[in-house]
Amino acid sequence: MSEKNSVLVIGSGGREHAIVDALARSNKVGKIYCAPGNAGIARQAECVNIKVDDVDALADFAKKNSIDLTVVGPEASLAAGVADVFHREGLKIFGPTKGAARIESSKEFAKQLMHKYHIPTGDYRTFTDFNEALAYVKERPLPAVIKYDGLAAGKGVVVAETYQEAEIALSDMLLDASFGEGKVIVEEFLEGPEFSFMCVVSGDRVYPLAIAQDHKRAFDGDKGPNTGGMGAYSPVPFISEDIRMDALRHIMIPAAEGLVAEGVPFVGVLYGGLILTKDGPKVIEFNARFGDPETEVVLPRLESDIYDLFESAVEGWDCATRWSKDACLGVVLAAKGYPGKYEKGAEIKGLDKVENRVYHMGTSDDAGRILTAGGRVLMVTGMGPDLQAAHAQAMKGVEAIECDNLFHRNDIGNQAL
Ligand code: AMP
Ligand code: GLY
Repeated sequence: MSEKNSVLVIGSGGREHAIVDALARSNKVGKIYCAPGNAGIARQAECVNIKVDDVDALADFAKKNSIDLTVVGPEASLAAGVADVFHREGLKIFGPTKGAARIESSKEFAKQLMHKYHIPTGDYRTFTDFNEALAYVKERPLPAVIKYDGLAAGKGVVVAETYQEAEIALSDMLLDASFGEGKVIVEEFLEGPEFSFMCVVSGDRVYPLAIAQDHKRAFDGDKGPNTGGMGAYSPVPFISEDIRMDALRHIMIPAAEGLVAEGVPFVGVLYGGLILTKDGPKVIEFNARFGDPETEVVLPRLESDIYDLFESAVEGWDCATRWSKDACLGVVLAAKGYPGKYEKGAEIKGLDKVENRVYHMGTSDDAGRILTAGGRVLMVTGMGPDLQAAHAQAMKGVEAIECDNLFHRNDIGNQAL
């Protein structure tokens, strides 16, 4: 087949920019569309103004524009049933159905799956009653891990150091209606370094991607509030090949097989948020999509064709991947105030002076001026023979960017450097 394929990417963040960038390197891909995209993505794809959860409009667009393959970025699109609608319309899509995506959207479903298929994770109990939950927490050692069961944009997890903190968290989640229908999971506290293991999954076929580590806290030294992620790097030196194989065999493959056995085969990226405990890797959470910002440091290391990988997953074919030995490290530039209140609309200059890849996470274009348009705004990456070199490259890029309203961490990679 010599004809090039047209691809639609759904989403508007750094993750989608990295996916578009990887697709742009494929010689099997012709036209790339992105819905809705952002100011950076617009340089590599045609942006289409359709919301990620307007799944009927997305399917309609894919049909009218003879899209060969659609790739889903955000959870919101999966939760709106984008894959289910595309399947019904006979359209090819890389992303799980709503049923399979429950591995992310329902923590209880994920926990039950792990329990049933012997996938290592923390012990847990589920509660809907405040008093019962509180009594249980008080019997157990601190810190207490309390998770809201449902999508809460990363805000639904509290690691409480005191019983008082735990009580406040339980009361917020079970007694305050703002969270919606109340159900919490109280989980065993796990200790060790965290890492992200993303795999392209197609039913029981699992194609592992390179391992990465995210930095969730806002400030240097892992201080400050939790964010969507302030930087990432890949590979992760303290995850040896043995540990990686252990995680693949005992976590990622059984999860994929479990979803098939449960009647909800998964097609897309299964993201293992894992922790290396003294008893080996265990699951903190699964996501049903590419991680953000991990994707921005993993895909630049992919040397084989990403379209082949997506197409193989959708068709159920075998596929081999090839990875660069170089390290990739990315620093997020976020709007001052993020993850709390922040302003939009500050002009960003100097982008043309950066030689490395810069992925736009939240930007807009105002007649050629690039403006901040989100909490996380840019991800500046660096690549090099080792993490030190990649870090230096990334920081050089960060220095070149001029904008009064952005802040970043200087110590991305601190656990490995
Ligand atoms: P999650 O949204 O489930 O990924 O949780 C967010 C963060 O809370 C994780 O990245 C961990 O740092 C922390 N966390 C969640 N569950 C646990 C656990 N069982 N033990 C220790 N830390 C946890
Ligand atoms: N970086 C974590 C996530 O994508 O959920």
